Amino acid sequence: MRTPFIAGNWKMNTDSQSAVELAKAVAAGSVDIAGKAVDVAVIPPFVYLQSVGQAVAGSGVALGSQDVYTESKGAFTGEISTSMLKDVGCEYVLCGHSERRHVIGETNELVNKKLSTALAAGLLPIFCVGELIEQRQGDKTEQVVTEQIKKGLAGVSAEDMEKVTLAYEPVWAIGTGLTATPDQAQQVHAFIRKLISELYNEQLAEKTRIQYGGSAKPGNAAELMGQPDVDGLLVGGASLKAEDFIGIINAAG
Ligand code: 13P
Repeated sequence: MRTPFIAGNWKMNTDSQSAVELAKAVAAGSVDIAGKAVDVAVIPPFVYLQSVGQAVAGSGVALGSQDVYTESKGAFTGEISTSMLKDVGCEYVLCGHSERRHVIGETNELVNKKLSTALAAGLLPIFCVGELIEQRQGDKTEQVVTEQIKKGLAGVSAEDMEKVTLAYEPVWAIGTGLTATPDQAQQVHAFIRKLISELYNEQLAEKTRIQYGGSAKPGNAAELMGQPDVDGLLVGGASLKAEDFIGIINAAG
């Protein structure tokens, strides 16, 4: 059985006060479920990792980072290392989020390096993949996702793969209010699981958690999570309101 996993990616939002308030409200509102029936993580901006980590310490809510760099230290202005993330209590790290790929310009090769660096340091990657609208319309979804997964997981052993969560985030559904239908999500999730089975083995594929992301909210969470291959949600906008995020966590439980 795969434990459902709900993660809130706060992106470039909140401030020092609202970040801590949100974190405390999420921890308090999910006290009976987080870390038990449902794995829960909050993923604030770098500058609030430490205070948010302190706010959720001892609760069932885990801490994640939105990104990481591939080098351990040195002259890499603006970047952040795995040891810095671990130092402030991070367990998870997003790798290859669509905004990193399409706004900042990260390639599959860089995503692979980041993911491998995270794994080597004992962080748990949430590895994001997904197609652009024109790729979906051109019937290229499976091709795009296959390339992202094969290149992103290059060199990752089966043992390490057990620590990876996949997140299918169709780019056209992110922040647009346009959610993939449960059927559309299920189709791609089943495809991804089959691909993991081919690249590794069936047992590992059955264990791998695949989150859906893209305009997830309390009103559609249960239906999305009801699909056999949807094991959790990577939530953007709706994770910024404690009440909505807790609603999603409850729907997963
Ligand atoms: P939204 O939930 O705001 O569409 O964002 C999804 C996402 O990108 C989470 O990483």
